[in-house]
Amino acid sequence: MPKVYLVGAGPGDPGLLTCKAYQLLQIADVVIYDRLVSAEVLGVANPNGLFIFAGKLQGEQERIQDEIHHHLLTHAADNKTVIRLKGGDPMVFGRGAEEWSFLNQHGIDVELVPGISSALAVPALSGIPVTLRGVATSFAVIAGHRQNLEPQEWSRYLMVDTLVVLMAVENRAAIAANLIRAGRNREEPVAFIERGATERQRVVTSTLAEVARGQVAVKSPAVFVIGQVVRMRKHLRRIVNDAVGAPGAIKESIHAGN
Ligand SMILES: C[S@@+](CC[C@H](N)C(=O)[O-])C[C@H]1O[C@@H](n2cnc3c(N)ncnc32)[C@H](O)[C@@H]1O
Repeated sequence: MPKVYLVGAGPGDPGLLTCKAYQLLQIADVVIYDRLVSAEVLGVANPNGLFIFAGKLQGEQERIQDEIHHHLLTHAADNKTVIRLKGGDPMVFGRGAEEWSFLNQHGIDVELVPGISSALAVPALSGIPVTLRGVATSFAVIAGHRQNLEPQEWSRYLMVDTLVVLMAVENRAAIAANLIRAGRNREEPVAFIERGATERQRVVTSTLAEVARGQVAVKSPAVFVIGQVVRMRKHLRRIVNDAVGAPGAIKESIHAGN
């Protein structure tokens, strides 16, 4: 039975690929990859393989998704080693389950190779734990895109200690305003980690109120973290820098005094 490997590429650093993902990439005949898969991760793959970029363009998501399905079916039917490579973990805001189900409906087997999700790894690598004894015992991972911006929806996150919002850069001011309106503390510390787990990582810290006022400049892709755990970064920064082997490599931008 033809097969497709649905593989998580992790947040960017090839050292954060799973062993299984690494081994499969080295023997891949076809790699169909998303926009957030880093060049460094692609560099691990079989150089003689066929690389197909499948990044989505605003307004053309469905057309591109159809093309992805077409490529998957065609190459799998040829009995090639086909890897569908997605940033982070394929099952976290990655349409992984949809593609898996589509392939099964067309008689193609799928083997999932989970990846390290940016939702947890990117904050952690910048010195922000999503849970912390005595500070945060719960966290939620939320989509910050337009479809999820109804103000009343945000009140359900009031009781969660740490909020991790993906795809939030464009709507960050509205998200912060909604959270404040729902009752979250306007002085709550926040961080944006741009291009986490890459050499171009940049961390911006601020408060919910400043983000709501549109005063915090951030570029996509970034993970938006909201909660008291952001303060922990001050105590872990040295270790974080040591861990990436380049003290001072992480650029810092602080908007508020936290
Ligand atoms: C469509 S979601 C996919 C998430 C992915 N499946 C995962 O598990 O990380 C894309 C969002 O993930 C976040 N993201 C992914 N990789 C990132 C990275 N290296 N640095 C910062 N944010 C990242 C950004 O919020 C981006 O808008």
